[in-house]
Amino acid sequence: MLRIGPFEFPFPVVQAALSGYSDAPMRQIARQLGCPYAIHEVVLDKLVLQRGRLQREIFHIPADDHPVGGQLMGAEPTMFGEAAAVMAARGYDVIDINFGCPVRKVLGRCRGGFLLSEPRTAIEIVRRVRDAVPPVVPVTVKMRRGLDDSPESERKFFQIFDAALEVGVSGFTIHGRTVEQRYVGPSRWTFLEKLREYAPHVTLLGSGDLFTAEDAVRMLDQTGVNGVTVARGAIGNPWIFAEAQALLNGDPLPAPPSVAEQGLVIMRHFELCEALHGEDASRIMRKFGIKYSELHPFAADVKAAFIRAGRRVDWMAVMNEWYAPDRDWPPGVRRNGPGDLIAAGACA
Ligand SMILES: Cc1cc2nc3c(=O)[nH]c(=O)nc-3n(C[C@H](O)[C@H](O)[C@H](O)COP(=O)(O)O)c2cc1C
Repeated sequence: MLRIGPFEFPFPVVQAALSGYSDAPMRQIARQLGCPYAIHEVVLDKLVLQRGRLQREIFHIPADDHPVGGQLMGAEPTMFGEAAAVMAARGYDVIDINFGCPVRKVLGRCRGGFLLSEPRTAIEIVRRVRDAVPPVVPVTVKMRRGLDDSPESERKFFQIFDAALEVGVSGFTIHGRTVEQRYVGPSRWTFLEKLREYAPHVTLLGSGDLFTAEDAVRMLDQTGVNGVTVARGAIGNPWIFAEAQALLNGDPLPAPPSVAEQGLVIMRHFELCEALHGEDASRIMRKFGIKYSELHPFAADVKAAFIRAGRRVDWMAVMNEWYAPDRDWPPGVRRNGPGDLIAAGACA
């Protein structure tokens, strides 16, 4: 059972925050395949406080997209708190604080993962956010396991972790890589085990290297975390949630989605994206299409077709040619690893 404040999730595999990806359409698709909780991509505190098109997108929370986490990033505790209050008032059910983003520009502006090196500011941010948000709205923290591998870095991690608990946060998502590591090398799951032992009653969600349903179940079993957040493994593969659910129920892994099933989900994703982003949908969906293509029996051809699809008409042509439900396609393919890795611009 995964518990985040007042929310209880019998199925503990959730959609991670993914900058450039985990907008409402991606979350809705994940939920249709069993995902019980999802987190919006990280948002800069000052953007939440500024009127504009971005605000409209940030606050677009469909009725079937709850409970949903809103994740914030910033450097200045007062502004962070103000933005958190707005996020909660505009419908986010959980406020998540980002202390993990390893992007150079973010670190240079003393945000994201940088704050793991500045416990005083990090703790003040957590305090301001907890104070600013109504008590019924849980606050959670996303952290990497440290800035780097030094003992000093680990000490600061625990300083922030302990203080955040005292302030009253409802849980943590821990990515088992350091900030310095970015996306190179494995996520250290043994750190999650250690944290589980250190804080047996605290809600912990694990992150890092969850590319298949088996990975999600393995992390739950091996580390004892309460839940896992699927990140790159869910881009273009929302079936990972249904597959993990089957495994956790003790059922066999379902067959990979057929081409016809894939086509239905991809079209639904496109329509949701179009409803939110209008003409930009084809451009935005291209990166999803490229990842969806990995499940297709003719993956390379489909990927090339999605890469070329810049307009709606091109997108529909790809769907008609490669996802026609009445053609006799070979079975769909299961993704067994990271596929084409997506890391550039990644934020935690
Ligand atoms: C493209 C991309 C964008 C990301 N954006 C966010 C984000 O907005 N907030 C966040 O907390 N983590 C973000 N992350 C980190 C993921 O949530 C996750 O912790 C990380 O990818 C490790 O999991 P994985 O190895 O299973 O992908 C991002 C990662 C990627 C690859």
